Amino acid sequence: MAADGFQFAFTPEVEAVTAPAWEKVKHHVTPMEWRLQAPLIAEINRLKQAKDAVILAHNYMTPEIFHGVGDYVGDSLGLAKEAARSKASVIVQAGVHFMAETSKILSPDKTVLIPDLRAGCSLASSITGADVRLIKQRYPGLPVVTYVNTTADVKAETDICCTSANAVQVVEEAARLWGVDRVIMIPDEFLARNVARQTTIGIIAWKGRCEVHERFTAADILEVREAYPDAEILAHPECPPDVLAVSDFAGSTQAMNDYVLTRKPRRVVLITECSMADNVAADAPFTEFVRPCNLCPHMKRITLENIYETLLHGRHEVTVDPAVAERARQAVQRMIDLPPPAVPARYDLVKARHHVDVELI
Ligand code: 13P
Ligand code: SF4
Repeated sequence: MAADGFQFAFTPEVEAVTAPAWEKVKHHVTPMEWRLQAPLIAEINRLKQAKDAVILAHNYMTPEIFHGVGDYVGDSLGLAKEAARSKASVIVQAGVHFMAETSKILSPDKTVLIPDLRAGCSLASSITGADVRLIKQRYPGLPVVTYVNTTADVKAETDICCTSANAVQVVEEAARLWGVDRVIMIPDEFLARNVARQTTIGIIAWKGRCEVHERFTAADILEVREAYPDAEILAHPECPPDVLAVSDFAGSTQAMNDYVLTRKPRRVVLITECSMADNVAADAPFTEFVRPCNLCPHMKRITLENIYETLLHGRHEVTVDPAVAERARQAVQRMIDLPPPAVPARYDLVKARHHVDVELI
C-alpha cells in the first residue's frame, strides 16, 4: 500500500514492466518485498513521464530506488552535471538536501523536489556562509575551494567547488588561477588532509566531518585484511587519512564503481555507505563483496514511498534565493567547466606522495 492509502496491485503487467529491475535487485530484496515495491516502481515511472520529471539518484540510494526508478545514477559530480544538462521540467533529487540545492543552482528555471526535506549532511551543517566570510577576512587573497557537500549560502562565498572525484585537480587549478601556493579548502577536514597528501599546494582546512566515514578506523581495515588477505580495499576520501593509508585505492563513489566494473576483482571491500556495495554488486557477478559498511541516516530518509508522494503532489520544492544562487552558480560552474578528472590509467594505489600537514582553522 502506498503512503497515501492507495493500494497498488502486483499485476502481471507490473511484474513484466519491472522485470529488468527485479533482475538487478533480487539478491537484496525478497520476493515478498518485491510484490509491494514493484507496483510503486511502475507507478513512479508512469508519473515521471506524465509530469516530465527525471529522478537523479545518488549511489547511496537503496537498490530498489537505484535500479528501479533512477534515470541518472552517480556520484555528486555526475549528478551535478546531469542537473545542468537535463531537459526535463522537474528534477526529483533522490539524495540529500545539498544535492537538490546544487541542482536548483544549476537549473533555476526547473522545479527541484526532494522527497524528505530532513535529508541533511553532517558536512553541510558544519559551516555557514558567515563562517566563510570570517575565514576570508583572516586569509585575504587565498581562493576558497568548497566541497559540494555544503549549503547554497556557503557556495555563494566560494571561488570554486569540488567533489571527491576532482578535489586534487580543483585545488591545483585554484592555486594556478589565483597565482598562490596555498588555498582554503572547506569544510571536510579529512578530504583536505587526503588531498594535501597528493599535492604540493598548502591547504588551510575546516574541522567538518562526515558522520558516516569518520567512523571507519585503520584497525577496522587491518582486521578485514587479515580475515580476507586477497580482498582489494577501496575507501572513500571522506575517511580519515590513516584509513586510506592502509587501503588499496581511494576515490569517489563513482570511481569505486568504475574500479570494480573495470578491474573485476575477485573480492572487494568498499569502505563507505552500505548501499554502495549492493548497487555495484548487481552489475558485478564476478566479484564477492565483503561488507563492513556504515549507513548514512540522511540518505536513508529517501524511500520509494516518499518519491511516489513527491511526484504525485509536487512536494517538497527546494528553492534558493536568486541572488545567492547566482553567486553560488559561478563556483559550481567553474568546477563543471574543468576537463574530466584524470582516471588513474591502471587504477594503481592512490597513496600519499607528500607528508604535508594541513593548517586547521
Ligand atoms: P560522492 O561525490 O563520492 O558520491 O560522495 C558524496 C557523499 O556524500 C559521500 O559521502
Ligand atoms: Fe553527508 Fe556523509 Fe551522508 Fe555523504 S555519507 S551525505 S557526506 S553524512
